[in-house]
Amino acid sequence: MDITAPVEAGLGAAVTGFDLESPTPEAEEALRRAFRGSPMLCIRGGKATPESFLRLARIFGTPQRELMGVLRDTAYSEISLIERHQGISTATGKPATFGGQWHTDDSYMAVPCAATMLYGEVVPPKGGDTSFTNMHLAYEALADEFRARIAELKAVHTYQSRRNASPVPERTPEEEARTPPVTHPLVRTHPETGRKALYINPNRIDRIADLPLAEGDALLDALIAHATKPEFVHVHAWQPDDIVIWDNRCTMHRASPHEGDHPRRLLRILIEGMVPE
Ligand code: SIN
Repeated sequence: MDITAPVEAGLGAAVTGFDLESPTPEAEEALRRAFRGSPMLCIRGGKATPESFLRLARIFGTPQRELMGVLRDTAYSEISLIERHQGISTATGKPATFGGQWHTDDSYMAVPCAATMLYGEVVPPKGGDTSFTNMHLAYEALADEFRARIAELKAVHTYQSRRNASPVPERTPEEEARTPPVTHPLVRTHPETGRKALYINPNRIDRIADLPLAEGDALLDALIAHATKPEFVHVHAWQPDDIVIWDNRCTMHRASPHEGDHPRRLLRILIEGMVPE
């Protein structure tokens, strides 16, 4: 097994030669260490089955049941399916790429998932990349006064936020009852490394708590523009059978569209997290 250094923006380390069927405890520990050093990691170990994908996820934590029934794979409740054009853009009324706007997964939940894994079962030969931005670096690059200004602020996250124009699947009444608006800090401390990161989600933040709407919107616009500057971003170009894992506590991501009718089929597992602090 070989593990490279992060490629850019502290992200994108690649693991090759990982034995998906019978990993050794040493290889598992090396993976966890690599993930702490590169909060977006690509693992290349050949074809995965749902079982080996789940086994790999358990190295990093506890796979959680996908809340949204529409995304849930029928045979495995912890594996969901990501395919293109799963939603309609509220901005254009046209089909849009699922996850096409910058976001961090499930921040509208009281306990958002810690990490997400995607397995590239079918990927297009060109396009359909996934981009990641390093929110530790984005936080650390803010001016001291800016950091002081946001230190105690919290944001209200909702499933369908006032500011979001990208598609989100309809919730059933039961799913809606389980996902009321929640409040999370704008800056969170990583529970494993103690490092601080910006915690924003352009898709789900509805407003900044305790700030007038216009002031909160201006602050969010500035933070989003800052956090998505090219120097914090790494773009992952998918190869078939890539398994990518990212840490939702300190990254955002977005999917790019691709031309033509080539299918793009990714399997997804979310890893349980804890209340953001
Ligand atoms: C997602 O946002 O979870 C999907 C990312 C992708 O399809 O590349």
